[in-house]
Amino acid sequence: MSRNKIALLGSGQIGGTLALLAGLKELGDIVMFDIVEGTPQGKSLDIAESAPIEGFDAVFKGTNSYSDIEGADVVIVTAGVPRKPGMSRDDLVGTNIKVMEQVGAGIKKYAPNAFVICITNPLDAMVWALQKSSGLPANKVVGMAGVLDSARFRYFLAEELGVSVKDVTAFVLGGHGDDMVPLTRYSAVAGIPLPDLVRMGWTTQAKIDAIVDRTRKGGGEIVGLLKTGSAFYAPAASAIAMAESYLRDKKRVLPCAAFLTGQYGVDGLYVGVPVVIGSNGVEKVVEIELNGHERSMFDKSIESVRGLVEACQQIAPHLG
Ligand code: APR
Repeated sequence: MSRNKIALLGSGQIGGTLALLAGLKELGDIVMFDIVEGTPQGKSLDIAESAPIEGFDAVFKGTNSYSDIEGADVVIVTAGVPRKPGMSRDDLVGTNIKVMEQVGAGIKKYAPNAFVICITNPLDAMVWALQKSSGLPANKVVGMAGVLDSARFRYFLAEELGVSVKDVTAFVLGGHGDDMVPLTRYSAVAGIPLPDLVRMGWTTQAKIDAIVDRTRKGGGEIVGLLKTGSAFYAPAASAIAMAESYLRDKKRVLPCAAFLTGQYGVDGLYVGVPVVIGSNGVEKVVEIELNGHERSMFDKSIESVRGLVEACQQIAPHLG
């Protein structure tokens, strides 16, 4: 049986980290693509040269030609520009939608059977544009945001509670913006929901509220520190978890930007919800009941996503 083929469209900070992680986990052979000549070739060679030390087998190729992604099983898209300090993710729409159109055309031509994971921001709008421009079925095109947002939430909670990150689960819904919806009653330590931990005196509601706020602004915190770009290690690790669940049919329940067709009362938009990812792509959308407060936070987040998609439709009306 031949190895899986993973195409990384965009070979910048996240693309390079994706290539290294995919190699270390032996997910398959890796093609790195970028419009800049030399970058994907240089990074591929550098990572390939780490393989004898780390002991993994994978073929790496850097390219500036879409034809090299032919037959890819998984495509991960990071092409585009990241934010700089003072920018919101939404400021990237005008530039990155054009990139999504180019990338979508490349996928349509050379990798129409792939499972496609979009990371480019603003995520919920760019994954919509990528699905439209590639024409792939919506269950095979997803956006990476929730795994990252919930990982940030989990990390902050583990730090506050003094427990292993492994034992903390967290639940985040909605768009990948500052009005995302971290759901505390579905977040837990070893199965004990956060509200119970507050009652048990492990922490206070005020501290949980501060963690929720920090989670929402987690991307901006990193941009403010780095100054020259945005987060890349945790975003790459998040997308690799999604790719692995697809390639190994693990059927993990992961929060992803998925195309909704009526679930949560939303139709025709990509929104962050828990989904089951297996060899058929998005195999199920997990629909939970929201209470009044959660519903109003979710609706606010949906309105932001809708606004961004409408901005995309104005720039690129042919996408529909
Ligand atoms: N086609 C292919 N690659 C492109 C194109 C294009 N049309 N336009 C830009 N790129 C490449 C750039 O040359 C660069 O190598 O995309 C890469 C982006 O890499 P970085 O600038 O390092 O950005 P990164 O941190 O990897 O983030 C990528 O993910 O999280 C989001 O907001 C982030 O939108 C950004 C994206």
